[in-house]
Amino acid sequence: MLNVVLFGAPGSGKGTQSAKLIDEYGLYHISTGEVLRDHIKRGTELGKIADSYISKGNLIPDDLMIQILDDVFDKEANGKPGVVFDGFPRTIPQAEALEKLLAKRGTDLAAVIGLEVPEDELMNRMIQRGKETGRADDTPETIKNRLDVYHKQTHPLRAYYQEKGKYLPINGSGVVDEIFNDIAAGLEEKTGVKCRIH
Ligand code: AP5
Ligand code: MG
Repeated sequence: MLNVVLFGAPGSGKGTQSAKLIDEYGLYHISTGEVLRDHIKRGTELGKIADSYISKGNLIPDDLMIQILDDVFDKEANGKPGVVFDGFPRTIPQAEALEKLLAKRGTDLAAVIGLEVPEDELMNRMIQRGKETGRADDTPETIKNRLDVYHKQTHPLRAYYQEKGKYLPINGSGVVDEIFNDIAAGLEEKTGVKCRIH
């Protein structure tokens, strides 16, 4: 399997670049944010719990999030050529859990693609999307907390994966297709795996 993490701050383009990775590499997409938003939409018990965190821009507790990921992986991702993890892990305990989850299934993580975008651009992208789509956590106050939470709880993973030699830094500003080309070139260099279109 080719398993990669798309890592980056809120609004950095994880969802946008995931869509391209799925198309061009035939990978399976797991976005923990989308899984949670789907539960909220369907009004499930989990959705009610998730909403109380997401609406404030806080992270869902690790034990619950890890359990959800484990279930989704077994139901949807087994037997696929690989997985793009979008928005997971977001804490060191989640990163450790992902390593165990993959090892238990006889596979591992090939690379962590880090989309690096200046803070003012992140803010503008999310404010704009909030206006266009009405995504509930794209309000100025919640965006500010999401960015704070990212710096405190998630950003330390950058150094964690750098130490493991897995981190692939990518400039996430600019034209979407050009950013994807940088990702494909970086992945090929790191893993030897070629993109279908290259
Ligand atoms: P999640 O859904 O993961 O959201 P996020 O990390 O805040 O990131 P976004 O989805 O807003 O941005 P993105 O990086 O996907 O960028 P996108 O491609 O959309 O998480 C939401 C919440 O769920 C969390 O706050 C938390 O509560 C909970 N949660 C999720 N996972 C969790 C976990 N593991 N543990 C605990 N809690 C968890 O792009 C953003 C915008 O910019 C779009 O409008 C896009 O069109 C535009 N754009 C993209 N690329 C470019 C470009 N190159 N140039 C200009 N615009 C661009
Ligand atoms: Mg997203």
